[in-house]
Amino acid sequence: MTGATDAPPDEQSAQGFVLGPAASVEDGQARGFPGPDGRKIIVVRRNGRLFGWIDSCPHFEGGTPMAWKTDAYLDGTGQYLACHSHGALFDIETGACVLGACLGKSLTPARLYVSQDHQIRLESGQTSREIER
Ligand code: FES
Repeated sequence: MTGATDAPPDEQSAQGFVLGPAASVEDGQARGFPGPDGRKIIVVRRNGRLFGWIDSCPHFEGGTPMAWKTDAYLDGTGQYLACHSHGALFDIETGACVLGACLGKSLTPARLYVSQDHQIRLESGQTSREIER
């Protein structure tokens, strides 16, 4: 998964589903935005790049929301995404589980870009069906 940047290529249009303002996710932080199917999309900014993941822990079939309170997606170190149900940790950039009950599994990516109006958007054509596990 490649992270999105705040520098929008010319060809990027304002067609994708809007998650929220790019400035609302500061470096080293994560936020959850309502996605097109009602599940949240986790957006993490790291070293100026944005990474998007479906808020759905792969531990159990059907997925489980990962935060124990609003936007609490990172572990205590801020280095990993964490599922607070059973403590699984996930690499922010690849979505791979690195510790806990989900080893061998990964988060489902949400392909992001930042449009010229500075909104974080899902790539156009990315439907809720495509972002299901
Ligand atoms: S539901 Fe996420 S680690 Fe168990």
